Amino acid sequence: MTGYCAYGAEFMDKFVIEGGYELKGSIQVSGSKNSALPILAATLLTNEPCVIENVPNLKDTRSMIKLLKGLGADIQWTGTTIMVHSGEDIGTEAPYEIVREMRASFCVLGPILARKKTARVSFPGGCIIGARPVDLHLKGMSLLGADIKIEDGYVVANTKGLRGSRIYLAGAYGSSVLATANVMMAASLAKGTTLIENAASEPEVADLARFLIKMGAKIKGTGNSILEITGVQHLKGIRHRIIPDRIEAGTFAIAGAMIGEDVKIKNCINEHMGAVINFLKEADIPLQAKEDYLWVRKPKSRKSVSITTLPYPGFPTDLQAQAMALMSITPGISVICEKIFPNRFTHVAELGRMGANIGIEGQSAIVQGVKYLSGAPLTVSDLRAGAALVLAGLVAKGKTEVLRAYHLDRGYEQMEQKLSKLGACIKREKE
Ligand code: EPZ
Repeated sequence: MTGYCAYGAEFMDKFVIEGGYELKGSIQVSGSKNSALPILAATLLTNEPCVIENVPNLKDTRSMIKLLKGLGADIQWTGTTIMVHSGEDIGTEAPYEIVREMRASFCVLGPILARKKTARVSFPGGCIIGARPVDLHLKGMSLLGADIKIEDGYVVANTKGLRGSRIYLAGAYGSSVLATANVMMAASLAKGTTLIENAASEPEVADLARFLIKMGAKIKGTGNSILEITGVQHLKGIRHRIIPDRIEAGTFAIAGAMIGEDVKIKNCINEHMGAVINFLKEADIPLQAKEDYLWVRKPKSRKSVSITTLPYPGFPTDLQAQAMALMSITPGISVICEKIFPNRFTHVAELGRMGANIGIEGQSAIVQGVKYLSGAPLTVSDLRAGAALVLAGLVAKGKTEVLRAYHLDRGYEQMEQKLSKLGACIKREKE
């Protein structure tokens, strides 16, 4: 793989943080992980080269690139620009070793099935935030005319040819981001028209729709919950720039709300961040959403705010843990209800070890703000819980060690370097 950047933490790295250092200055938001992953998978839909710009160099994007190479794609990765050329003869199997480490690999199912009429993709399995079922993905594929079998932990899909269908794609927790992505990609090459009802409308799904339309797909309803896709025979290679990562931007905005003096989060798209901007304003954080940046200044006081996570444009589940870290040091009581991944509270016990006062009642966490947190050795179990623990370490008295920092490297590009640039006392060390 020429030009491949090898940035990345070793498996057993940790972040060591000395709390109490105020943040000041500006950071540049990287490209969106959750837009880059399905768009990289979508390059399998064409035998022509695609150039994707603003791709963040993360553990997860490196895993997706490894998978595409394993499927026979030619990859050139220089800086944040990746050329992917899958060519005529792509493989049809996504192995357990890769899907296990990065469940978004499952969204190669639709493209492979659409191009090769057969696919064998490992079942992603669960992770710490929940069972992570794929029933909606499989419902969509079978309604498009695929015969689906489960064999040896793999989804084996075969079709004589995909054909358009009407697909209601909502589960018990509402819409599904990657199921919408998988079905939209497969339907782009199906015969006839597909209607996806209760499609996910996250900005990352809209970015994928724009990518597919540039390739020649016929998609109506981009960014809405009803998508109409009319299949075409061929999709062409194109150049596309990934949107900025609204979850990274929100994470740094919350860091600014916790211990910022004056923080500018640059090149974010404020329209994608309505829920978190509203949350911070309700918490009395002085915040201005300018054309392409968020400006967070030191609050005189903070107000506790309750949130419920919902599909976009609701409050994103990927910022729930970070919001909880802020509420844990805010006077008053905040009720944080997690409606997308009901078990997504692994950060609660770790925050409790720092002195936070949080109780869990079913899908809700009751957060009673405390005056201060104390540093402690903490273990990260998932990406966004890890982000919350880093934020808590920035404000805690004394030293915090955040172990298993590789979880953070999955979704945050050089997080410790960006925070150091803002004045935080944080460094990466070997565990
Ligand atoms: C995407 O995951 C994101 N990942 C997640 O971000 C994000 O938390 C999630 O969407 C929700 O916004 C990527 O885009 C790579 P879902 P996805 O399908 O698509 C249930 C991060 O930290 N469900 O929208 O896998 C599911 O269990 C990651 O960046 C089914 O029941 O999530 C959940 O309760 C974490 N059946 C709800 O739907 C299915 O077939 C929403 O999940 C699929 C999902």
